[in-house]
Amino acid sequence: MHTYSLSLLLLALPAAAVEIEQRVDALLQRMTLGEKLGQMSQSNALRGGISPEVKAEIRKGRWGSFLNAGSFEDRAEAQRIALKESRLGIPLIFGRDVIHGYRTVFPIPLGQSASWDPELVAQAARIAARETAAMGIQWTFAPMLDIARDPRWGRIAESLGEDPYLASLLGAAMVRGFQGASLDAPDSIAACAKHYVGYGAAEGGRDYNTTWIPEAELRNVYLRSFQAARAAGVATFMSAFNNLNGIPTSGNVFTLRQVLRKEWGFDGFVVSDWNSVTQMIAHGYAGDAAEAAFKALRAGVDMEMNSTSYYDQLKSEVEAGKVDLKLIDEAVRNILRVKMRLGLFDKPVPTAPDNAAMFTAEGREVAKRLATESTVLLKNENRTLPLSKSIGKVAVIGPLADSPVDQMGCWVRDADPSEVRTPLAALKETLGAARVVYAPGLKVSRDVSRAGFAAALEAARAADAVLLFLGEEQSLSGEAHSRAFLDLPGAQEALVEEVARAGKPMVAVILAGRPLTFQKVTERAGAVLFAWHPGSMGGPALADLLFGDAVPSGKLTASFPRTVGQTPVYYNHMSTGRPPVPSDLGIKMGMPKDPAQDTAKYIDVDYTPEYPFGFGLSYTTFEYSNLRLSSPTAPMGGTLTVSAEVANSGAVEAEEIVQLYTRQLAASVTRPVRELKGYRRVRIKPGQKQTVEFTLRTADLAFYNERGQLVTEPGAFQVWVAPNSARGLRGEFRVTE
Ligand code: NOJ
Repeated sequence: MHTYSLSLLLLALPAAAVEIEQRVDALLQRMTLGEKLGQMSQSNALRGGISPEVKAEIRKGRWGSFLNAGSFEDRAEAQRIALKESRLGIPLIFGRDVIHGYRTVFPIPLGQSASWDPELVAQAARIAARETAAMGIQWTFAPMLDIARDPRWGRIAESLGEDPYLASLLGAAMVRGFQGASLDAPDSIAACAKHYVGYGAAEGGRDYNTTWIPEAELRNVYLRSFQAARAAGVATFMSAFNNLNGIPTSGNVFTLRQVLRKEWGFDGFVVSDWNSVTQMIAHGYAGDAAEAAFKALRAGVDMEMNSTSYYDQLKSEVEAGKVDLKLIDEAVRNILRVKMRLGLFDKPVPTAPDNAAMFTAEGREVAKRLATESTVLLKNENRTLPLSKSIGKVAVIGPLADSPVDQMGCWVRDADPSEVRTPLAALKETLGAARVVYAPGLKVSRDVSRAGFAAALEAARAADAVLLFLGEEQSLSGEAHSRAFLDLPGAQEALVEEVARAGKPMVAVILAGRPLTFQKVTERAGAVLFAWHPGSMGGPALADLLFGDAVPSGKLTASFPRTVGQTPVYYNHMSTGRPPVPSDLGIKMGMPKDPAQDTAKYIDVDYTPEYPFGFGLSYTTFEYSNLRLSSPTAPMGGTLTVSAEVANSGAVEAEEIVQLYTRQLAASVTRPVRELKGYRRVRIKPGQKQTVEFTLRTADLAFYNERGQLVTEPGAFQVWVAPNSARGLRGEFRVTE
């Protein structure tokens, strides 16, 4: 009986795929060129409601998709018209930017990545998918998989950090979360791997700027997270805005046709980014809209977002014999295939939004856990944290203590700020309102007025401890919001200086969309927590951490520079021929030193980051010892076991993210000084220790060589089991032929 039903299942899978192909082909046969180009067009026109003109266009098959569109009712009506009143009844697909939550807001993706917790990240995406699907939307423009090494770039907030291995794991988890077990389930939505590719390498950290990435670097660093999303079954890709090595990514035959389609076998569809097809004119890659449309189509962009060059230009180009109809048929096939996989042809149009799916207790719980796990403890002198609940009064100071909109982060369109739980509200709940003295000192992060300083100092004097909620407003990060300075904006540092005069223990909690530089605050405060923009449940998560109901376990996924002049600073860099020496460490910031050695350093700031990738403290301490390798050599194709003991030497039960790094000392192309190869989250009781074991396959050491081949080369390696990318126990091994 079992065997029988299993074989049926196996037969059924390819049959479903075959049926989809047959349905797509049959439909394609019946489509006019205008209808085909309509499918390849995505419009923003429902934003202000659904006009009679747009209704007529949908009836005519003018649009295949709408983005960030209208109300639930508008979408339902548009879909009804497409299915019932257009000639061929082809459904629309509605896309929306659901980047870190729909109504329940999760931490910004960079924050989520600091949890190193794919399971939890997948759960958050699942909840976002449910809320999104309940509103008649079937497609999100997430995850953003751009590797980000530059905190000036505003979109680092949307990234999963600087490491390709971790971004691959977490990005694939998001894809699984959004798409669920089956794309056509009522609570699944299609994910979109964006921005393909290299967008995060913008020169100077300035959004939309040019990128230069040699092919080996592209494959070893920037393509990996996209390939992982492809392997996880992502339904769509988005081509990016950037010019990559002289060819804009929305017209890039190499990345879109060679890599994505040929090498990875992707059969979903590619949507351009907003106007990125016609922006190839400004890039200097196309002379006019017709050329831009042709070049995007040739490269394999199936659907054009917002600009209308496909619809306006390609008909006459095909008729004039300048564009091959086969290219258009292929694009339409890709789009229809995804629409069928989503079940859009067969599902009834929902008649009312499912409000029960919104802001559920389960969603709030996941949002709180993710905000807790994302928060990174950067400093904790003399056990300033956790605070005791029997403390008398606390002063709550700073522009981000009670700012729901800022706390939500940069990509939120559908949440209700009144549902957001701020730190101030949560602290009042934990301690009782009478023990919380609130004096923000500054109205917003950019405020330069000292008008509120006196009240803040008075609050600090009246309290037993000062909690400072500092950082940057949500509007200072995200798309087109790059910064050339990474300091705390406004008069925040001056506020901290003023409040410090009260002489009370101070804790700084920083809420921001990117790594910032805030040394003066760190010097003044006994403890520093970095909480990113933590979303709807940031307040309760932080209250738990501050008072010891939760223990910090987050680890940074982007290096924090000491000063903006060091950027880009990232852990997996190459060595140089003159690597810095220990005497180059400790060069004071801003103080030029007459260099004793000609090494790759700065003469006015230590060359290392302020906080390295992988760094994060706990309320306990962990000691690493006893590194063991199963063998000093690994034959090519074999494996090696690497283990170490990790002991909890403090007084609190806590979780540690134990990291495995390797370095190949010499290869046919130079390899990074360290690369993350694995990690384990372990929970250890005080006084106890655990052996943490990793299996390293020689295939895990592979990289793309100069000829674009994935190879493992024999030779000498270093290996670390480490609490972060700058420390750890080091061993050696060789890979033999
Ligand atoms: C432009 C952004 O780059 C992209 O990430 C987003 O999905 C689209 N606009 C649609 O809003």
